[in-house]
Amino acid sequence: MKKTFIVANWKMNPQFLSEAKKIFNSIKKGVKNIRRVKVIICPPFLFISDFKPWRLIELGAQDCFWEQKGAYTGEISPQMLKNSGVKYVLVGHSERRKNFNENNEIINKKIKALLEENLQPIFFVGETEEEREKNQSFKVLEEQLKEGLRGINKTKINKLIFVYEPVWAISTSKKAVACSVQNVLNVILFLRKIISRMFSPKIGKEISILYGGSVNKENAKEFLREKWINGVLVGAASLDIEGFKKIIKSV
Ligand code: PGA
Repeated sequence: MKKTFIVANWKMNPQFLSEAKKIFNSIKKGVKNIRRVKVIICPPFLFISDFKPWRLIELGAQDCFWEQKGAYTGEISPQMLKNSGVKYVLVGHSERRKNFNENNEIINKKIKALLEENLQPIFFVGETEEEREKNQSFKVLEEQLKEGLRGINKTKINKLIFVYEPVWAISTSKKAVACSVQNVLNVILFLRKIISRMFSPKIGKEISILYGGSVNKENAKEFLREKWINGVLVGAASLDIEGFKKIIKSV
């Protein structure tokens, strides 16, 4: 049976390893009797090697560089991540697109570098508030997909997990309200159509696509009961231990 993904993006939190361990360990306890779910925790780089994957919990990283080694001050390679027990890596998050000028070309290089190391990219697409107001959402999403996936072999595409995360729906944005389920479904079906055209109808149908943006313990259920939404990506609410456990349990 297909697994539902619950991804925790801790962003630049918490400040201390002791706190990070506390969150990780209590999530571990909370998922003991859960099946059908894969929980992917993405802590800041510095804490990764202090955690080990455990049963349904896998380790993710929030970013990576596209080269495997060399003179790249400050960067972390896919190989280093793999050697630290990481299986999944976030790519194309809007905060990286905005704050670090990551464009579709850079994102494409990162996806390729990850696949080379047999790591699984968690690839974000999503429109900004401005693009949405100008009615450009579908055009932007299609571009992000086509350029981000350029040159990627059909045999590798099922390694990817996609996230539709509209930038305006992130909890730190001005609006900070989750996208409606109907809207998410429309977009996810659109993404599946593009992926079908690019690769094959089978891939378009079977690929995992998640929703992210202000997911919390109250609204997670609404997204998780939809067949075409294969999980959720949670930012701020993943640091609230009890709330996050509740999200996992709502699968
Ligand atoms: P949020 O963040 O759940 O706090 O909206 C999600 C994200 O930006 O990854």
